[in-house]
Amino acid sequence: MEKKWWHGKVAYQIYPKSFYDTTGNGIGDIKGVTKKLDYLKDMGIDLIWISPCFVSPLADEGYDIADYYKLDPRFGTNEDMFELFAEAKKRGMYVILDLVVNHCSDEHEEFQKALKDPYGPSAKHFYFEKGVDGHEPNNWRSCFGGSAWTKVPGTEDLYYLHIFHRKQPDLNWENPETRERIYKMINWWLDRGAAGFRIDAIMNIKKDLPLRGNNYPADRDDGMVTSATMIHKAKGIGVFLGEMRDKTFKPHGSFSVGEVFDADPNQINEFIGENGYFSSMFDFNETNIGKDNRGWYARKQCTPDQYRDAVYAAQKNAGDVGMMSIIIENHDEPRGVSYYIPAEDLSDTSKKFLATMQFMQKGFPFIYQGQEIGMEDCPVKSVDEIDDISAIDEYHVARKAGLTDEEAIKVVNIYSRDNARTPVQWDESENAGFTTGKPWLHVNPNYKKGINVAAQEKDPDSVLSYYKKLIALRKNPEYQDTLVYGAFEPLLADESRLMAFWRRGKGQNLLVLGNFRREERTIELPADIRKVLLNNLPELSADGRKVTLQGYQAVVLEMAE
Ligand code: GLC
Repeated sequence: MEKKWWHGKVAYQIYPKSFYDTTGNGIGDIKGVTKKLDYLKDMGIDLIWISPCFVSPLADEGYDIADYYKLDPRFGTNEDMFELFAEAKKRGMYVILDLVVNHCSDEHEEFQKALKDPYGPSAKHFYFEKGVDGHEPNNWRSCFGGSAWTKVPGTEDLYYLHIFHRKQPDLNWENPETRERIYKMINWWLDRGAAGFRIDAIMNIKKDLPLRGNNYPADRDDGMVTSATMIHKAKGIGVFLGEMRDKTFKPHGSFSVGEVFDADPNQINEFIGENGYFSSMFDFNETNIGKDNRGWYARKQCTPDQYRDAVYAAQKNAGDVGMMSIIIENHDEPRGVSYYIPAEDLSDTSKKFLATMQFMQKGFPFIYQGQEIGMEDCPVKSVDEIDDISAIDEYHVARKAGLTDEEAIKVVNIYSRDNARTPVQWDESENAGFTTGKPWLHVNPNYKKGINVAAQEKDPDSVLSYYKKLIALRKNPEYQDTLVYGAFEPLLADESRLMAFWRRGKGQNLLVLGNFRREERTIELPADIRKVLLNNLPELSADGRKVTLQGYQAVVLEMAE
């Protein structure tokens, strides 16, 4: 694999609305990110991804952009963003933005023009279609519920397509002028100091044409079908992605990471290989486990062995072809520690275990804000407390399927995106020090129980201190080459609830062990231990090649061979 400037680095995702509020309006802002840069730098973070902060009605919390060239005043000004770029640069850090170009907001000027003149040039930037026999043009379902088509107001029989919310009209990538405008906007930000982009919902940009009358077999009683089905059928996305790369990222030498769900293992090279469309893409293999087209209520939670198998499979698929980006959570997922670790086993030790498993994989690690202090899910009691549009929809889907209110809330609490969106817990003061005002979303009360930055900075055994050690190990020049580029080889893959894998580099053999259960276990190692590089517990009990791992113990060992 050809070495790239970002390969040995560590990334951090910021969801600005919940990061840090400097104005007291209850909403985090870009100045708040700048203010916390030293905290991130001290942890060892090199690159930060900022979720969308552009002008937006926030129907989908900023993933509905009304002006791509301007920050939403609630998050700050463009000058604040340029200041952040400059301050990051001073510290040798990079800032990437979020590229949301499958759709924009229905409040975008161009869409507003299109509504007024539905057969004119503005409408060509979107997908406007005539209905069929008084119905929507086809039976695709929106990701946030209901039909993916909404009637254009004032027309008899004309609809626009929105794979997501009705306030997120899809952009017509088939129109060369639309594409040119997108590239121009990307370059505008890259020219002003953005180091690259995380690319949102990118697999959705290619549609299975023609749209009108293109029905698929229904997957729910509503007669509709998830639009993910369309993504599998659509062919030829590579033409768009290659063009975007050549006209934007490539000439700038910038970093790009795609939100690519259901990646076909045979396409890794095309997507993130030598001349791939992106620098990297997220590994969602673990995230995808148990999904069900019927909805969250039918979903099966990922078990420890499934988690392990998904990690191993993803590692095998990427091999030496490209560098995947590795996460345990993001703003669309529940907190990794709450989801992957059985509730009765949740502790600092098991949180550190999961962190070790993430960081020792081959790939580019992204920490999601608050992950480094072990932030947990924040369950709600009633549907009125939910902000996430997808969780609200799934609540109603579950109710329609016959679940009681209590059962439906239980389901939603497992998967709700609000779990990851509660404000970052900075200290023990009111609202966890996130804001002096009223926080836009409830704060997890456990900030008073040690899950806050200030407390953990003082404690050498905290989850935060452990993350710092993990990052330091990844950057230690003695081991970095092996940890970044070394081969990943599973060991004892048939042992239930054990994660064990080699990272083998030039003349160096690192062994990562993680006991994914509460009970201790003894295993026989294939070689002698030379050195314990990291341990999430004070001791490792070893007798020659026999080691006994305590519940959720994780170690990184340098082995003799
Ligand atoms: C991506 C984003 C998610 C958003 C969706 C629509 O999946 O990560 O937050 O709701 O795209 O833009």
